[in-house]
Amino acid sequence: MPHLLHIDSSPRSDRSHTRGLTADFVQRWQVKHPNSTVTYRDIGQSPLPHVTEEWIAAAFTPPNERSQAMQDALRLSNELIDELLLADVIVAGIPFYNFGMPSGFKAYIDQIVRIGRTFLFNPDNTESPYTPLVHGKRMIAVISRGDGGYGPGGRNEKNNHLDPHLRTVFRFIGVNDLEIVAAENDEHGGAALVDSLDSARKELQRLATDIQPQRGDDSPDVKNRESTSRRTTSGVGNKVVSGCTRRNI
Ligand SMILES: Cc1cc2nc3c(=O)[nH]c(=O)nc-3n(C[C@H](O)[C@H](O)[C@H](O)COP(=O)(O)O)c2cc1C
Repeated sequence: MPHLLHIDSSPRSDRSHTRGLTADFVQRWQVKHPNSTVTYRDIGQSPLPHVTEEWIAAAFTPPNERSQAMQDALRLSNELIDELLLADVIVAGIPFYNFGMPSGFKAYIDQIVRIGRTFLFNPDNTESPYTPLVHGKRMIAVISRGDGGYGPGGRNEKNNHLDPHLRTVFRFIGVNDLEIVAAENDEHGGAALVDSLDSARKELQRLATDIQPQRGDDSPDVKNRESTSRRTTSGVGNKVVSGCTRRNI
């Protein structure tokens, strides 16, 4: 049974283009995969905390040496990582802010890119000290930008720091299969915006129909867990888990 993780990170609600586009993708995904389940996490309207000194100390302490306070500091991070590892497909709505990602999505990345959970570090291997621990995911990043021309060959291409950042950080943990679908021209409006939204929607419709989950429930991601917090929720980030027949957003 394929599992989809749906993340929205725009602080806007009805006016958000990324929210509209991810919702459209999920709806079509559910039609194509009627037995699928969906976890929804809204980090735009219910922001995640930034990592703290306690969090960093806990993350770099071996699991069996962590105090109760350290375990508490990592609880939400464990929940987010378990959620990511359970997913076959991840669709994330990400607004383009100041030439990169919004701080809310960066807070998410800082919570899930964690030594011993999503990557390993071996200083003795000087050629290749980092090993990704996430396998078999397909991810779609849905982006909306105010101006235009940030795509390949466009007048703003050199100012697009979001696409390369996303590719680098998700490849670092092992999410190599990343599709980026972008709408542009929110600030220009008119036909330029309508056309851009239309082509983004069409591309997402194609992906929702064509994309095939790469793995089943016996994958190493699901078996090798440091924590047992799967499917529990801290209430942070407004998480909802639903079967395909319900859309709880
Ligand atoms: C704080 C902030 C910074 C922004 N920075 C940029 C920018 O650097 N370049 C750009 O093209 N648009 C920028 N925009 C416009 C947004 O990318 C655009 O409104 C987009 O549609 C937001 O996504 P959403 O519709 O899902 O909320 C910015 C908007 C905000 C609120």
